[in-house]
Amino acid sequence: MFLLSTDIDGTVYEPRDNGQLFGDYWAKLQGRLTPAPRLVYNTGRSLADTRRLIEHSHLPDPEWIISGVGSTIAQRGASGPFAPWSEHLSPGWEQAAIHDYIGQQDLAQAQPAECQSSFKSSWFWENASPEALAQLEQGLRAQGWEAQLVYSSQRDLDILPKRANKGNALRFLAQELVVSLREVIVAGDSGNDLSMIEIPEVFGIIVNNAESSLREASFASPRYLASEESALGVQEGLESFLEKPPLPRPAAADPC
Ligand code: GLC
Ligand code: MG
Repeated sequence: MFLLSTDIDGTVYEPRDNGQLFGDYWAKLQGRLTPAPRLVYNTGRSLADTRRLIEHSHLPDPEWIISGVGSTIAQRGASGPFAPWSEHLSPGWEQAAIHDYIGQQDLAQAQPAECQSSFKSSWFWENASPEALAQLEQGLRAQGWEAQLVYSSQRDLDILPKRANKGNALRFLAQELVVSLREVIVAGDSGNDLSMIEIPEVFGIIVNNAESSLREASFASPRYLASEESALGVQEGLESFLEKPPLPRPAAADPC
């Protein structure tokens, strides 16, 4: 058994095929493997937007959706987000005040309202330098907020609670589902995917169209760098995993 936690845009979804390549491949895998693999989308899109996309594309229905860069977890068919995760993110998070503070810095332009959520303040900031981002993070800390900055595609800046991000949400969900991280495969193409790809126990797939920050990052355990792009790259990585399951991966270091 494995569980695939995959980013959507630029990873399993491209507008040119409307998710068909991945949809077809996943359907075949379901028939080929027993037990059938499980699917979780792990995306920067909002929950509503993700559900809309699934409905209007060939993307298969997932069991769970991690949306808003790990700021929300939701089960298929549930009317709202998974409350234990929201409760986990709440302490010390002041969305409106943090959003106002970033706006006052006059560094970045706010993303549209539908990209903001209770635990995610999102901005456009082209070519922000690592130093400028570190300075902003420090400014937030000086105000008493333990926020984290996630920068993707040299443009998208997400400010999240310290405990959020795609990787932490995936860890939380795996624990809830009693799935070992060694049975988890992750796939992505941009900066916000880093936190899930760097989980040491998982099998990580980086598609060939991934941004350089991801392709050039060094990881604690080997990652599969596909030679194909997007859905074909994910397929390539999954086939490699199925053909030759990697050696047992190290357990995560004890954070204490
Ligand atoms: C998606 C989201 C956007 C976010 C970006 C990077 O495009 O809609 O809000 O900034 O992913 O995480
Ligand atoms: Mg992407």
